[in-house]
Amino acid sequence: MDMLKREDNEKLCRVSPGTPMNELFRRYWIPAVLSEELPGPDCPPVRVRLLGEDLVAFRDTNGTIGLLDAYCPHRRAHLFWGRNEECGLRCVYHGWKFDTNGQCTDTPNEPPTSDFKHSVKLKSYPTYEKAGIVWTYMGPKELQPGYPDYEWMRAPENFRNVSKTFEACNWLQALEGGIDTSHSSFAHNNNIADKNALRSRATAPKLEVVKTDYGFKYAGIRDLKEDGNYVRAYQFIMPAQQMRGAMVRWTDGQMEKFPSIAGHIWVPIDDSNVWVYNFIYSSDVNIPFTPEFVEKHETDFGRGKADMLPGYKLVRNPSNDFLIDREVQRTKTFTGIAGINTQDYALQETMELPFCDRTREKLGTADTAIIVARQLLLEAMKDIEAGKVPRGVDPSTYNMVRGCDKFLPKGVDWKEGLLEDMTAKF
Ligand code: FES
Ligand SMILES: [Fe+2]
Repeated sequence: MDMLKREDNEKLCRVSPGTPMNELFRRYWIPAVLSEELPGPDCPPVRVRLLGEDLVAFRDTNGTIGLLDAYCPHRRAHLFWGRNEECGLRCVYHGWKFDTNGQCTDTPNEPPTSDFKHSVKLKSYPTYEKAGIVWTYMGPKELQPGYPDYEWMRAPENFRNVSKTFEACNWLQALEGGIDTSHSSFAHNNNIADKNALRSRATAPKLEVVKTDYGFKYAGIRDLKEDGNYVRAYQFIMPAQQMRGAMVRWTDGQMEKFPSIAGHIWVPIDDSNVWVYNFIYSSDVNIPFTPEFVEKHETDFGRGKADMLPGYKLVRNPSNDFLIDREVQRTKTFTGIAGINTQDYALQETMELPFCDRTREKLGTADTAIIVARQLLLEAMKDIEAGKVPRGVDPSTYNMVRGCDKFLPKGVDWKEGLLEDMTAKF
């Protein structure tokens, strides 16, 4: 399989202002913060760094959210220190005040007769709050698409959980882990003694990718001989979302009780850090989650309450080698690291710097989905250059899709057999 050209790897990974990938991300609505970070009117402002740009978010007295350039236009103080008061964020250096549109409404260190403030405006981005997430669109105003409307956003609150984690690596290597179905037989094998586990019985899934208007759907098909095929069907939604069925992951019966669909959105902070937005929702419109199920799920994935540090960082991180236990690795789990997504982070956060050197990879058939994702991202950057609308901008292309995880009898094509299972119910 052809390795990636150096310039294409750079193009895919670099996200700072002025780069093609930065332009691409700006054409989609992306998560800026969780709603819980701005819990109420006039709450403390928060620092936000997106696509290499420093911003500040605040919720004003009326509950309206502002997402502004972090640096005060007067003499560039950081507005994180600001006072959030009476419908505006006031810089604490000299008292200038800004509303949620970035308009300056007060310059108290200038003479009262001055109308200087009318000409001062801070860069601001539109926001949209839904499903526990404050979304933003950072692109050209005239090209702003409709609001994001994934199925999991429509599921009622008690049918869904949304969380966020910090990962210290380039966004693409995190995304690629998310559409890499074969690693779950290894990195996520948490019971090496159980040779009957679904993903241990067949460790070399056959991958089939189908391109769509929003990205692609793909299946990892595991041949379980007389038991038929075990199919994990994923959605890749441009530019950085994965969705998959989570139906038969657990052996303790919990998942069967709460049939689910899970996924992530990867939002680049800068070239070497990424926010991972995690979601899980019930695939059955009649089965809401319980808080116990949600906490068990989050703990299983390494982000339970006890696993978190301030700033959505993990207790297990590169500074402590993710608390790897070599005895556990010898006797019980493949990695010796606890937490399913923590296992991913250990592998992804310790690749070469500043990001994975894809000119030196040896890709196999198990990497087919990753290869197509790179193609689509490169193609979308070309589309923007050519003045075209990139794939997956329009919500109507993706709002009815879901992932699934299922057994299929031998001879049934997943593209036919799973059509209904891959269509939204909410
Ligand atoms: S730097 Fe903000 S008011 Fe002066
Ligand atoms: Fe993983």
